[in-house]
Amino acid sequence: ISALRTALQPYRDQKNIEQSNLQRIALVPTMGNLHEGHLELVRIAKQHADIVVVSIFVNPTQFGAGEDFDSYPRTLDEDVAKLATVDADFVFAPSIDEMYPVLPPPTSVRAGAITAQLCGQSRLGHFDGVGIVVSKLFNIVQPDIAVFGQKDYQQLAIIKQLVRDLSYPIDIIGAPIVRANDGLALSSRNQYLSASERQIAPVLHQELQHLAHQLTSSKLSQQEADSLLAQTQTRINEAGFTVDYLEIKTDELNDITESAAFNTENKNLIILVAAWLGRARLLDNQLVAVN
Ligand code: PAJ
Repeated sequence: ISALRTALQPYRDQKNIEQSNLQRIALVPTMGNLHEGHLELVRIAKQHADIVVVSIFVNPTQFGAGEDFDSYPRTLDEDVAKLATVDADFVFAPSIDEMYPVLPPPTSVRAGAITAQLCGQSRLGHFDGVGIVVSKLFNIVQPDIAVFGQKDYQQLAIIKQLVRDLSYPIDIIGAPIVRANDGLALSSRNQYLSASERQIAPVLHQELQHLAHQLTSSKLSQQEADSLLAQTQTRINEAGFTVDYLEIKTDELNDITESAAFNTENKNLIILVAAWLGRARLLDNQLVAVN
């Protein structure tokens, strides 16, 4: 932590002297095992800032008992080599002891009602862990901007709320989902898939696209939309997944009000899914613009 602070100080000093937009610092938080989705976040960060710091830390406080903390892939050397190809400036890869002098930390950062749904409901305490680690990273790096992927849509919404409520002077940028050629959203957890599961995996994205198309092609009642949703869930399960949740929300993750369902008052909707395929819990989402 202190080495990173020392390394970043000259850029902060220069920024203060010049009172300009020069030497803006961006942070891209990750848990490593980097893929093209992470590298795209770095490229986006580079467009908005002069110095890009990438953190690599498999954060124990966001994993529940029985989850994959121990088996989560750790590939620091390869990650650093990949980051060099996209001109990242600093890699911050702290030890657990340095990040958490006391584990679990007695201080907590809780995001409230927004976590009582979707991934927060299936992974109790997960977003408390994300909240504290991201708060710490913001305090350590003190970036001007931070980039997060829309793949973890609820996480991004929680981070925006955190920045608002704790008055962090940081612009949060949401980055589009990067996909494999067959449509599967890239994820470090995709490597848990067997070869045959990997063949099935793109069904998730295909089904969300199909549902989004159905939702936009005609004006639907809540009941009709619910029925399409149920049919989609059945097809995903029949393909070999076990759906954890499949829901339609407003793009701010509110419930869709019955009276205004799928009409012009609800222009921006999002379909969100989490589904198990073998050992992998896959996430995806698809924005829907209902006219
Ligand atoms: P991790 O899963 O490593 O993801 C790091 C960042 O990369 C997140 O913002 C995530 O949304 C983004 N990302 C992952 N796959 C992506 C894809 N296919 N397209 C676009 N962006 C993608 O998310 C975490 O780590 C952690 O919870 C963290 C925020 C680092 C806190 O520990």
